[in-house]
Amino acid sequence: MDLMEYQAKELFAKHGVATTLGKVVTTADEAKAAAEELGGVTVIKAQVKAGGRGKAGGVKIAKTADEAYEHASNILGMEIKGLTVNRVLVTPATPPVEEYYFSFLLDRSNRSYLCIASVEGGVEIEEVAKTNPEAVRQIPIDAGAGVDEAKARAIVEEAKFPAELADQAVAMVQSLWKVFVEEDATLVEVNPLARLEGDKLEALDGKVSLDDNASEVRHAEHEEFVIHEEADPLEAKAKEKGLNYVKLDGEVGIIGNGAGLVMSTLDVVAYAGEKHGSVKPANFLDIGGGASAQVMADGLDVILGDPQVKSVFVNVFGGITSCDAVANGIKGALELLGDNATKPLVVRLDGNNVDEGRAILNELDHPLVTQVDTMDGAADKAAELANG
Ligand SMILES: Nc1ncnc2c1ncn2[C@@H]1O[C@H](COP(=O)(O)OP(=O)(O)OP(=O)(O)O)[C@@H](O)[C@H]1O
Ligand SMILES: [Mg+2]
Repeated sequence: MDLMEYQAKELFAKHGVATTLGKVVTTADEAKAAAEELGGVTVIKAQVKAGGRGKAGGVKIAKTADEAYEHASNILGMEIKGLTVNRVLVTPATPPVEEYYFSFLLDRSNRSYLCIASVEGGVEIEEVAKTNPEAVRQIPIDAGAGVDEAKARAIVEEAKFPAELADQAVAMVQSLWKVFVEEDATLVEVNPLARLEGDKLEALDGKVSLDDNASEVRHAEHEEFVIHEEADPLEAKAKEKGLNYVKLDGEVGIIGNGAGLVMSTLDVVAYAGEKHGSVKPANFLDIGGGASAQVMADGLDVILGDPQVKSVFVNVFGGITSCDAVANGIKGALELLGDNATKPLVVRLDGNNVDEGRAILNELDHPLVTQVDTMDGAADKAAELANG
């Protein structure tokens, strides 16, 4: 789960990272009241889970409470990278003298953790990495050893943070590491990590991604960060039904058993789609080992609820759950869904009891169901139907 800036800052404060919380509001009137209460110059910041808010006009300085009202009414309702701004953070303006970049992240390719730090922060770090790669330091972190004071000091030196700020920076790095480890995050990013007047270091912005696998069992309190009205309704429905579903941006709905098979199904559909109007997979959905009528119906129900979906590819390899059980699952699901089953299904069954499975679907002779024996052939058919 990705957090909004104000949520990330709550975690920062909890673990002793220097930051200012400010107030989160959803209306311009509340923004004005918050600015009045804070007094002085404030910053009005769009709260959306996207980068580049400042560039998009979502971060504005307000000299007065009336200006705070003005900015908030412009920013609320604005779209940033396709996301509607429903809340703004009102926070005291603390103009940075210098802006640095700092992050801890999961380095999947090296199966380890990585720290990225730069004295050229504030702007998009990806740009700095291109134009001045020397300024972006990448420091591997030994997962077992973690970040103690000595490591934090080594990071601060490597990043070339100013010597007069070193002690503050070391403390900040250790606190950010605490956020990363104790909250089971996969990303903790501060950009800008600001040097304020009076040589004070502060996290002026924050991005945190939490590991959902850990949140579910180790952090019941993370549930508070879920903004239910903003959750994708299909993903929310899938979660409620215990399905392993990720919404993607294409037209071919996908159901498969086993994460590896579903991943390769996404690939073959994307490949086949190139010949059929560039259609793409609409989702990832792994129904796992069981393929009962209920699980199949739940899966189909979620996928058919996606208005972008034009066809569905059910790709099952019968193992412990054999093909006849899956075929009966599909049959039962179509009965359960009744008139709600509205889009063509391409079914490819292979593996255990494949002949029995195919026979069940042949006998069913449902107008929406087409069987294709091979994975590539079925992907091609599903893409063709999605394009037609
Ligand atoms: N409290 C503040 N006081 C003064 N200036 C601020 C404050 N917060 C942010 N700024 C300025 O606004 C710039 C952009 O703010 P911020 O980093 O929060 O958003 P962003 O980087 O545009 O958004 P994103 O991180 O989503 O890409 C900062 O680099 C900083 O110069
Ligand atoms: Mg930023």
